[in-house]
Amino acid sequence: MKETSKFSSSFGTIVVIGGSVVGLGNIWRFPYIAGENGGGAFIAVYILTTLFIAVPLILCELSLGRKTQSDVFTAFVKMKSHKAWRLVGGISIFSALFIMSFYSVVAGWSFEFMIKSLSGDFVLSSATNVKSQLDSFVNTGYMPVAWALVYIGVTGGIVMMGVKRGIERLSKIMMPIFFVIILGLAIHSMTLPGVSEGLDFLFNPDFSKIDGSVILTAVGQAFFSLSIGLGAMVTYGAYVNNKANLKKLTLTIVLTDTLVAILAGLIIFPAIFTHGIDSSSGPELIYVTLPTVFGQMPGGMFISGLFFFLVFLAAITSSISLLELNVAFLINRTKLSRKKAVVLTSAVSALLATLCSLSLMDDSIYTIAGVPVFDFLDYITATYMLPISSIGFVLFMGWVANKTLREEILNYNINAPWWYRSFNFSVKYVLPIVLLLILING
Ligand code: PHE
Repeated sequence: MKETSKFSSSFGTIVVIGGSVVGLGNIWRFPYIAGENGGGAFIAVYILTTLFIAVPLILCELSLGRKTQSDVFTAFVKMKSHKAWRLVGGISIFSALFIMSFYSVVAGWSFEFMIKSLSGDFVLSSATNVKSQLDSFVNTGYMPVAWALVYIGVTGGIVMMGVKRGIERLSKIMMPIFFVIILGLAIHSMTLPGVSEGLDFLFNPDFSKIDGSVILTAVGQAFFSLSIGLGAMVTYGAYVNNKANLKKLTLTIVLTDTLVAILAGLIIFPAIFTHGIDSSSGPELIYVTLPTVFGQMPGGMFISGLFFFLVFLAAITSSISLLELNVAFLINRTKLSRKKAVVLTSAVSALLATLCSLSLMDDSIYTIAGVPVFDFLDYITATYMLPISSIGFVLFMGWVANKTLREEILNYNINAPWWYRSFNFSVKYVLPIVLLLILING
């Protein structure tokens, strides 16, 4: 890969990788999962999981990418390892395609909800009314499909412009705007009457709520939120400057991601406690509950519009990484140009997204094993594909490419400090076992 496809600065590196990890996982998934799993106690387990499981996995992926300068599949080819390892790359490529398809559907809804918010459709509406607005939108069939296609088109357009001119340049604009909006909305939430209840729910852990399933859910959430297990970090690792300190980069990314998840919680929980809405209302938390809550506030139309714009910004930088992962793979493995690779990947994503979206209609025929295609893809990626490929990554870096891991993380320093020795021990022995147990329980 040519040197021109490296990120141009450390700020650029952080906004692009930060853009991949910060997404619907933080704003849509984290608040409802935390809400369903006991709030503070779940968050405590989640933070431990990110430190002990996610950080080492990200380091493994980034090292493999930077060493081989290639996408997640070609990386295994370049390491001259046994052909069977390529399977790990293959699973990653398919996971990215599957995630991209249902992700685009949920992200596409943000356009519709931005428009509805600003046109006052949610003003003084009850939750039942907002829910029926969401249902009738989804049941038109063509509307959500159209928005998902627009969304994939925008993502494809950015990826087509290339790593520096497209992905990095736009992330440098979008991520700062994202932070200004999320901070503004969080500060606004601090003025609501439900703030003390909201803060209590988020930060006062009730450890009796922790059980096996809470731990499993926390691990799954960490994988999704930190873009782990599908080689997004391998692909982006190839674009990271050779002198950059991967450990520092990883810690910055993980901290940012956790901070954004907590900020999203700070926006959402004070608002829902203010209006006495159930904190465990599931995936509909942001698309049903929030418009209802904002609809009761003075000036809520604009706050709600701004919130769905935030959702869009968060999602797009993540989908860029999902698409880029496949595009880099096609560029490296076939003779396709970037343009053609983007068109092909977007077309396949568009087809899958259409199926996902239509599968959510009442009595839809688009089901697999009795469940809507949308839920099926969500379930098999999170429960099987991401953990399996993660086991592949740690085994590979721990046992086959251990020297590479060491060189990349220590930047070719000869002495391994204490933290490296415990990290390496964990990659070789602890993580494969822990991940296997998670997979079996999942
Ligand atoms: N991390 C993204 C989010 O939180 C989702 C994602 C997963 C993006 C895997 C890329 C790869 O929404």
